[in-house]
Amino acid sequence: MTSRKELLERLAIGDRIIRETPVIQLQDDHICLHAKLEFLNGIGSIKDRPAFWILKRGIERGDIVPDTTIIESSSGNFACALAAFCRLLKLNFIPVLDPVVPPTYEAYLRANCKHVVKVDECDETGGYLKTRLRMVRSLMSDIPGSYWTNQYENPDGMDAHYNLTGAEILRALPHVEYVFLGVSSAGTVSGVSRVLKEHNPDVQIIAVDAEGSVIFGQKPKKRYISGIGSSITPPLLKHAMIDDVVIVPESDTLTACYELLTRHNLFVGGSTGTVYSAIQSYFRGKRFKRPPTVLFLCSDRGAAYLHNVYNPEWVASHLMIAAPTPVAS
Ligand SMILES: Cc1ncc(COP(=O)(O)O)c(C=O)c1O
Repeated sequence: MTSRKELLERLAIGDRIIRETPVIQLQDDHICLHAKLEFLNGIGSIKDRPAFWILKRGIERGDIVPDTTIIESSSGNFACALAAFCRLLKLNFIPVLDPVVPPTYEAYLRANCKHVVKVDECDETGGYLKTRLRMVRSLMSDIPGSYWTNQYENPDGMDAHYNLTGAEILRALPHVEYVFLGVSSAGTVSGVSRVLKEHNPDVQIIAVDAEGSVIFGQKPKKRYISGIGSSITPPLLKHAMIDDVVIVPESDTLTACYELLTRHNLFVGGSTGTVYSAIQSYFRGKRFKRPPTVLFLCSDRGAAYLHNVYNPEWVASHLMIAAPTPVAS
């Protein structure tokens, strides 16, 4: 078994693996629009940061020791990042998934974790989160010495975005005026909003959620695109400093994903389309003396969404709209 000394040495490797992601400027007629490319994190999403930070803090405090089993409920990205860092740290990890998990993520997790648990029963909101959380609690009581990273409640997840994502935004774009952030566990919006508001209380933090998610008090409705939204109000949300909220229907998410691909050459996951759509609707019809500086995060890549967002047949049958057609030769 790994010794504590080896665990700390491996943690130091993790510290070097987490790198600054680039901020690029996109063409836009009305605003000075920037995207931070979180899909360039090593495992491919914004979730690399909280996954590493939660494990790091747990190890430093002694809550996670070499024979701890890590358990987490995740719709994909967070589990993938945890699987990679747990492998690096030689910790056992059991992800709890549901049927909305993109097939590529499930294949990756099955290849990297000895045990994968998948629930199949919807909760009363039509989502799976509550069922997954019940499964986590049951595993915790069955496995002695297990540790639930608990991304919806763990302040270390928020601190990851305060210390890493938020600090990087300040270095890259210290005069940013609007930051649009998708919400699921609320770790990103709470950590980033706190550090940016400390630097400039006037910066506008716009939270973005999917129609059918209950985070901001909407009625629950079946959702198909993973990554953004939740069927509970995440406890971390109380730490967030939010100026405005934009709710986006899944059909608009889709149109926005295609626009990001065809206009900006960015092949991104559904949640990034949701946020991009929110930016377009938020500034539509608004007039400014000079274009405001706006930032959003490209949280993950589009490859995991080829079966739904980028599949015209799926789009037609699930969202009842026609997907944008390819260019004819
Ligand atoms: C692709 C993607 N975008 C956005 C989010 C939202 O981030 P947070 O959980 O920090 O609220 C997530 C969370 O899983 C995600 O996977």
